[in-house]
Amino acid sequence: MLNINQRLQEVFGEAIRASCPELDNPPLAVTPNQQAKFGDYQCNSAMAMAQMLKAKGVKVNPREIAEKIIQNLPDNELIQKTEIAGPGFINIHLKRTFVSQLLSNLLVNGVVPPPLASRKKVVVDFSSPNIAKEMHVGHLRSTIIGESMCRLFEFLGYDVLRLNHVGDWGTQFGMLIAHLQDQFPDYLTVSPPIGDLQAFYKESKKRFDSEEDFKKRAYQCVVRLQSKEPDFIKAWKLICDVSRNEFQKVYDCLDVSIIERGESFYQDLMTEVVKKFEEKGFVQLDEGRKLVFVPGQSIPLTVVKSDGGYTYDTSDLAALHHRLFEEKADIIIYVTDSGQGTHFQVVFAAAQMIGWYDPQVTRVEHAGFGVVLGEDKYKFN
Ligand code: ARG
Repeated sequence: MLNINQRLQEVFGEAIRASCPELDNPPLAVTPNQQAKFGDYQCNSAMAMAQMLKAKGVKVNPREIAEKIIQNLPDNELIQKTEIAGPGFINIHLKRTFVSQLLSNLLVNGVVPPPLASRKKVVVDFSSPNIAKEMHVGHLRSTIIGESMCRLFEFLGYDVLRLNHVGDWGTQFGMLIAHLQDQFPDYLTVSPPIGDLQAFYKESKKRFDSEEDFKKRAYQCVVRLQSKEPDFIKAWKLICDVSRNEFQKVYDCLDVSIIERGESFYQDLMTEVVKKFEEKGFVQLDEGRKLVFVPGQSIPLTVVKSDGGYTYDTSDLAALHHRLFEEKADIIIYVTDSGQGTHFQVVFAAAQMIGWYDPQVTRVEHAGFGVVLGEDKYKFN
């Protein structure tokens, strides 16, 4: 479909350059007119061009420049007439036949996207709630904004991969599993009734904070889960399933179908990614932690914690690697609230530092949105 604004810019661009070849970069200002009586569009370049000429010691009346621009307009299909107004505005009236053709075309064929030069692949990371925790409004917003972007990209002809980067790995599972073992010792054979996972989470957190033995066991559970002991994986899956069912209700309401590829998906890759950074000499030790400093970024990434575990940073580096090298994405977009802006800037900068992608070629972006707070000033659930 023809873009009128763009077409007018082309036509006027040519006329403006021809009218003042002595100016290197004459300003091209063509905008829709707010008031119909002045025409459909207007070009305001003449005044600014007169100013530029004046700076060069040439005094010309802007109306004369406007006159010249009009004389230099190339033959075109869309302009009916032009007139000069005030100090040198050019009012532009479009051809009625041209506009009516455009409109009939729109009514008959609908909005037709511009042709794509090549079929590009887009990964959109959105929604991404955390297992065993409630979705907060930010996750809901991310779901809606992310899905809207995906639909738009699909409409434009892109190959879209929707990814749900759920928080499904980490130390909270230690206490959840330890608590599950106590509450439902036969969980391996009988599905435990943990419909209210939030309450279950709170109970286990309470025990974690108050019972020393429980805390120790919770830590052991994390280690055993991370070494993939089958009974622990089973417990972890049971817990994830409860959350998954809850999330699915929201996705069904919104008609969203998204592939779950949470933090746990990148476990093995995280080990490799840390190695890659170490081999290139980008890792610094700090009290048992492994940090990656990125030029121009004041906050380092923590890629390995002092207990040997990986972090949110490590999982995002691994996920980015996977999306670049396995998915071969041309565009990668992360939809979260802007509170995570710095995190993503550092992750992207680290990936560029190690040479994973060139921002001129691959577009990797954080699409941030505002944080919704409750009356208590915390993230609204
Ligand atoms: N689970 C995270 C949160 O709730 C959001 C994850 C966003 N995606 C990502 N690749 N980090 O804050």
